[in-house]
Amino acid sequence: MVEIKNIVLIGAGLMGHNAAQICLMAGYNVTLVDISDEFVNAGAAKIDEGLKKLEAKGSLGEGISAASLMGNLKKTTDLASAVKDADFVIEAVVEKMDVKKQVFKTCDENAPPHCILATNTSTMSITEIGSVTNRQDKVIGMHFFNPPILMRLIEIIAGEKSSEESMNTGVELGEKLPCLKGKRFVPKVLKDRPGFIVNRMNAPVQIYLNWVFDQAAEKGIPWNQIDADAAGLMPMGPCELADYVGIDTMFHVGNYYTQTLSPDFKPGKVITKMVEENKLGRKSPQGFFDWSAGRPKIDKSVKAGLFNVESSMAIMLNEGCRLLEEGVVTGFKVIDEANMAGMNTPGPFGAGKKNFEKWSQLLEDLADKTGKDYLRPCELMKTGGFVDMRK
Ligand code: NAI
Repeated sequence: MVEIKNIVLIGAGLMGHNAAQICLMAGYNVTLVDISDEFVNAGAAKIDEGLKKLEAKGSLGEGISAASLMGNLKKTTDLASAVKDADFVIEAVVEKMDVKKQVFKTCDENAPPHCILATNTSTMSITEIGSVTNRQDKVIGMHFFNPPILMRLIEIIAGEKSSEESMNTGVELGEKLPCLKGKRFVPKVLKDRPGFIVNRMNAPVQIYLNWVFDQAAEKGIPWNQIDADAAGLMPMGPCELADYVGIDTMFHVGNYYTQTLSPDFKPGKVITKMVEENKLGRKSPQGFFDWSAGRPKIDKSVKAGLFNVESSMAIMLNEGCRLLEEGVVTGFKVIDEANMAGMNTPGPFGAGKKNFEKWSQLLEDLADKTGKDYLRPCELMKTGGFVDMRK
């Protein structure tokens, strides 16, 4: 297996600079690349700031200073020369296929033959990105969660032609990158399918949420009553959570899965109208609630009786079973652990083992009620066949 010393991080934005920081903290030489000096310098300044904070808390380790780690960081806008002595490349540029392909082509033409090329894409096909290279066996997905330094999960995704060795190198590197919230969890994603593990399993809950939001609007139910339905069961109710994540993000994710999985993911009327009116949630700062004075205070004294947390768990169990059916992973233990490491919430299989019969019926009823067939339980869920697929 390749010994990694030099890592090149392409894209110095939100994800790239933070991933570069943990690579430095793990002891690697890192070259940070972006399209202008302004962007590279801004990324490097954030890394410096992050390292200095950790140094002040005494968290960098014996004899290690922010300055010494910054000494291992190079900055450049010249990608071709940056990868000349790279052992491992992590691409975190904008989520555009043509940009990623161009970046991968340049890397392939200039990096040494042993160098592995990893992409942090959250929605694109690893196989397609790798198709422009002459080293498709050395192209993998390396999907960090935001922010990489705090989220324990890194998914390592196999494209159709990725070799076992490249996958193992990705896992080994991922496990070495420090996380401030505990032990890294770095599962292999065996098939290049939309959403990989965690985003995919959580995605169809949106089909249900869109229906809940549209029903509430039709019946004149106030949003705080929908969130009251989840009080005590979720840290944030569905409306507050949607505001927090961003209504536009929810809208784009819905469109993405409409194209890749099923038309049932099409964003609902409420979400679509909010995007049109630029009510994007926390950042705008209007959404379901007003965020102009910080986190909204939501009156949860009256429940709507419309949103049911158990339905969300049933939907996640169903999607987790589909991941098993499709061979994205071989066992449910990985799915549950990934959800905890990437979302800080338990996965559905623990409770699902006891409830799959009841939850299958619940999903049949929900599909009838919403007209969304994607919500119907798959064979593996209905039969409980997943129960024996732990590993
Ligand atoms: P961002 O917009 O903060 O950063 C992207 C950076 O890439 C910018 O600094 C931009 O100047 C740079 N860039 C664009 N074209 C380039 C090129 N040809 N060469 C070098 N640099 C270039 O975006 P963010 O959020 O950091 O996302 C980056 C990638 O990470 C995307 O693929 C995204 O899907 C993925 N991702 C994002 C997550 C998030 O929560 N934001 C979570 C997981 C993955």
